[in-house]
Amino acid sequence: MTEHCWIRIAAVDTIPLREGRAVQIGDREIAIFNLGDRFLATGNRCPHRGGPLCDGIVTGTAVVCPLHGWKVGLDDGRVMRPAAEARCVATYPVRVDEGLIVVGMPASAGAASGRSEGAAA
Ligand code: FES
Repeated sequence: MTEHCWIRIAAVDTIPLREGRAVQIGDREIAIFNLGDRFLATGNRCPHRGGPLCDGIVTGTAVVCPLHGWKVGLDDGRVMRPAAEARCVATYPVRVDEGLIVVGMPASAGAASGRSEGAAA
């Protein structure tokens, strides 16, 4: 079982419905998406050519990369389009705690020494 270091990111109302925002946690850039009933977090770099997933169009529980249209599932990080693509992005657990979005980073990643820069980007 993976142990997580839980990092407070920002107030829930800083990410509009069906939009994403990028945050830097340590050396990782994370995209956090507001799906209305929950928040999901993935790596922010598209597995195709590194496009910013946080700026993509959220459709259902997926995001469409703004650069070339790859579709990435937000629950598991799998590339859904193109269908034959096996690459994926990392996903991170998210919870809401007293109105704050809190993201779980693997404890082995050294996230405890990382710095949260908030979701205002
Ligand atoms: S960089 Fe995302 S589809 Fe090309």
